[in-house]
Amino acid sequence: MRGTKGPSGRGSRELTEKVRTARRRTISSTRWLQRQLNDPYVVAAKRDGYMSRAAYKLIQLDDRFKLLKRNMRVLDLGAAPGGWSQVAAQRLAGSHSTIVAVDILPFGPIPGVECQILDVETPDSETIMKGWLGGPADLVLSDMAPSTTGHQSTDQIRILALAEVAYEVAQATLAPGGGFVVKLFQGGAVGELLAVLKKDFTLVRHAKPEASRKDSSELYLVAQGYRGTLREDEGTC
Ligand SMILES: C[S@@+](CC[C@H](N)C(=O)[O-])C[C@H]1O[C@@H](n2cnc3c(N)ncnc32)[C@H](O)[C@@H]1O
Repeated sequence: MRGTKGPSGRGSRELTEKVRTARRRTISSTRWLQRQLNDPYVVAAKRDGYMSRAAYKLIQLDDRFKLLKRNMRVLDLGAAPGGWSQVAAQRLAGSHSTIVAVDILPFGPIPGVECQILDVETPDSETIMKGWLGGPADLVLSDMAPSTTGHQSTDQIRILALAEVAYEVAQATLAPGGGFVVKLFQGGAVGELLAVLKKDFTLVRHAKPEASRKDSSELYLVAQGYRGTLREDEGTC
């Protein structure tokens, strides 16, 4: 596996890219472009062949929490453009693992990953995903995020709703002892979800990987040791 912590290394550029304001580019899109060009994780993702800078977040979470283990079934929710799935596929390569990745947006193909277009919020999504997994999941990852409105409390409510849906999926698919990672925004009403996770898992921790932008309120809950038992009809999913 490639470098695990800082993105810099030989070949990475200093943070000096400037972007000229093109006639039809707005100030905010110029700022976005400038930030992208100067972001060391964007540069590293390009260098290392990852579809997104988000790949380094999973690398850092996995280095810390040892989430990815040989011969496991992984469900990656909100997977596009595919950085997390690429990391999972690399780290599980050579083992009998299954990685199912879903998103509303088209993405892939990614070697070693079953990429599917699916809205996780549709009522029968769990049944469909169970079919793709071919058995109980050992790890459910959710980096799902709605498109942001810029209105902080609205965005927090929407991401929390997606996190709750992700946990419903996890409850329907996780094997006992399994793990669950979910993205949230700090400051939202996460208390209820956190309380449920603390009851249902032996260990729950907060994490803000170094690759998560400092100016973003994003954080992850990492829950390990699922105490739940699969219902009989779910044991053969
Ligand atoms: C931050 S991106 C994920 C980045 C990804 N982990 C990676 O490494 O490239 C969030 C994704 O969540 C997806 N998403 C949002 N709502 C969703 C839903 N209801 N069902 C499936 N995917 C969803 C978005 O389309 C978006 O691609």
